[in-house]
Amino acid sequence: MSRARLTLMASALALAAALSACDGLGGQASDMPPLPASATAPVTYERDIHSYAQPQVARVTHVALDLVADFEGRTLSGSATLDVTGQAGATQVVLDTRNLDIRSVTDAEGRPLVFALGEENPLLGRPLTVTVPAFEADTVQKIVVSYSTRPDAAALQWLTPGQTAGGSQPFLFSQGQAILTRTWVPTQDSPGIRQTYAATITVPEALKAVMSAEMLTPEGEEASDGARSYRFRMTNPVPPYLIALAVGDLAFAEVGEDVGVWTEPSRLAAARAEFSELRQLVDAAEGLYGPYRWGRYDLLVLPPSFPFGGMENPRLTFATPTIVAGDKSLVSLVAHELAHSWSGNLVTNATWADFWLNEGFTTYFENRIMEAVYGIERARMLQVLGYNDLQTTLADLPAADTRLRLDLTGRDPDDGLTDVAYEKGAAFLRTIERIVGRERFDAWLKGYFERNAFRPMNTAGFLSDIRTHLIAGDAELERQLMLEAWIDQPGLPSNAQAPVSTALTAVDTSARAFFVDKGPASAIPWRRWSTQERQHFLAWRPTGAAATRDWLTPAQLADLETTLSLANEGNAEVLFAWLQIAVAHRYQPAVSTVERFLTTQGRRKFVLPLFTSLWAEGDWGRPIATRIYAQARPGYHPVTSGSVDDVVGVPAA
Ligand code: BES
Ligand code: ZN
Repeated sequence: MSRARLTLMASALALAAALSACDGLGGQASDMPPLPASATAPVTYERDIHSYAQPQVARVTHVALDLVADFEGRTLSGSATLDVTGQAGATQVVLDTRNLDIRSVTDAEGRPLVFALGEENPLLGRPLTVTVPAFEADTVQKIVVSYSTRPDAAALQWLTPGQTAGGSQPFLFSQGQAILTRTWVPTQDSPGIRQTYAATITVPEALKAVMSAEMLTPEGEEASDGARSYRFRMTNPVPPYLIALAVGDLAFAEVGEDVGVWTEPSRLAAARAEFSELRQLVDAAEGLYGPYRWGRYDLLVLPPSFPFGGMENPRLTFATPTIVAGDKSLVSLVAHELAHSWSGNLVTNATWADFWLNEGFTTYFENRIMEAVYGIERARMLQVLGYNDLQTTLADLPAADTRLRLDLTGRDPDDGLTDVAYEKGAAFLRTIERIVGRERFDAWLKGYFERNAFRPMNTAGFLSDIRTHLIAGDAELERQLMLEAWIDQPGLPSNAQAPVSTALTAVDTSARAFFVDKGPASAIPWRRWSTQERQHFLAWRPTGAAATRDWLTPAQLADLETTLSLANEGNAEVLFAWLQIAVAHRYQPAVSTVERFLTTQGRRKFVLPLFTSLWAEGDWGRPIATRIYAQARPGYHPVTSGSVDDVVGVPAA
């Protein structure tokens, strides 16, 4: 046979085949309810301005990675074998790459294929155009790309032993969202182009590899000298931003049936205890919106430089260790990443302009899980905290960026990573729920996940789905919902309602007593308060004319810090809220705490605002920021340092 060609299949059939090829552990368990016909209808690809791919001409359906992790050279090297289907007659396949060293491109028999790397765009990287023999209808061709990543691949962070808890082994993890997968996998890196994947990852003997996939060799297999190989497969088609890998000295503990935690051995007991309610969270989610379609649900608690709170990698959520608070107070983050197993991983934003479909739906769903497991008051507190953050964001952002549907022309998809997608999106869904009633809303949302499972979704598709399946021609309901205003107008429409939490209203009273009436910190019922009440107290700000700097006196700051033991605060969210106040007041005694916080974790949500606030404090804050950043930057993930570089500048070597 001159070329490996398998009989196939339009993309709809490829999807159906991929789904039915699954076994009980990997993807669609055999007892999984079948998906409706809509879920296997052909996909029309939307133009994605953040990808060079031309999926309507030729598209990747499967990626098989065979990579060796070299911790000295900080590279992944090997090959990616891509299954590609194409329009009859098409002879070119366009892939996304960025910062990769491509050695060769061949067919399945090793015969070279002509390829060309296009011009470099700093954000998008370079298109890799491979010329192949003309596609015949219903055929798959294989393309083998041999390559290495660069030590500064933006998706990868290579940690020295000193940056881990154990201190004796190095560590590697990837972060693909939004458009970073192309810095370690040459494929079509667009969320609308779903791909199944398989991988063989070879690592030094002392380390273990884990991926967002079924782990076929839990103990690994002996490879060449001093190395072990781990094999994986993901039989559900996923957007490429969800292909994820971590390598390190990792241990696992089962938490319940089909749920568990991975982390470094010395942190395992704490992580397991923190997430002991993992099974209840999954049960609650399934009870709300239908079966969990990914088999296992595990958490991977990473070293502290992980740049996000959490990342919803299928079967294996990646999480920051800053949520291991010791008292389960920050588990809503796990509820969030779990919710993405439906909103985002099943129904996926077609392009990053519709990011709110991932995050707004997930933030809504997260809160429903929290309500189901921890009760309505906890859920309301979280709603209020989010809604208040949204108010600040709406006041700060240019109006055009406060629309749900974004125009990201010429922009980094990260620009859409604001509270608008999360909290305005969630407020929108809560508004619909309030107007139509929970029962009808839940029935619609469950149906939305089923009808659109394993498919890309855009805002127009959402509108059409909700009009067909919920509004159904009811003109009065259509008028009440104000859908278009929510989606394309800045700010919040007139039918938005602020959430209310009785507990947080009581916190407001204490806050006014301390911040406005200058009462003593000893009157604050801090010890009785939950983390959410403490966060709300510290997020309190004066309004109107007094809303300038220096709304607290040095004596009040000292009273607060001492009475509430804020210098020793162990909860990262509470500490962050305090340090924001301290920096805004140029409160010198807190500088060592700021320094410790910024040099011991690299979560961008904490790091970037603190450097930004320091920088805003001119003569006082800039030298502090510069000094701390010089020390902290080598420990940060490229995602975090890239953002902080824009504020503080790159420290001189
Ligand atoms: N998918 C996001 C993280 C993300 C978004 C990474 C865009 C890269 C680009 C994840 O689900 C998320 O939203 N994480 C939040 C936590 C959540 C509880 C709001 C985070 O990391 O803070
Ligand atoms: Zn999210």
